Amino acid sequence: VEETLVLIKPDGVARNLTGEILRRIEAKGYSLVDIRLVEPELSILAAHYAEHEGKPFYEPLVEFMLSGPIVAIRVAGDRVIEGFRMLAGTTDPTLAAPGTIRGDFGRDWGLKVQQNLVHGSDSPESAARELELWFA
Ligand code: GTP
Ligand code: MG
Repeated sequence: VEETLVLIKPDGVARNLTGEILRRIEAKGYSLVDIRLVEPELSILAAHYAEHEGKPFYEPLVEFMLSGPIVAIRVAGDRVIEGFRMLAGTTDPTLAAPGTIRGDFGRDWGLKVQQNLVHGSDSPESAARELELWFA
């Protein structure tokens, strides 16, 4: 069965949305295989976001991801990689559809796009790489 890496980013943990996000994952029928509360080293985030290195939002993004604890979850289910990204909604919470995690809870009151509550792997290759990184 397919697996993906979900991260509840520091804004999601700080806003007490962990339970709500886990509830949505479970309600969809996905299984929680492993879960941990992490304060990652910079090296983990640099590897996680290597594809964005050099972009203007890279440094603020990494700084934001270091701003508080993150919940890392190994989630399993049929087509869970694509399915979780549908649960999450589009990257920019301002534009994310109602009914999605980002659409229902994401705020853009002068906050930045990076504060979009969750991460989900975007392909089988990313999922394998990221699960190895966060659950080594
Ligand atoms: P993830 O599931 O977190 O990987 O989001 P994504 O796949 O929807 O977006 P992408 O991988 O393109 O970008 C990774 C993260 O970088 C996003 O979730 C945002 O937190 C942040 N990000 C992406 N684009 C922008 C941007 O244009 N501005 C800012 N400030 N942050 C961005
Ligand atoms: Mg991404």
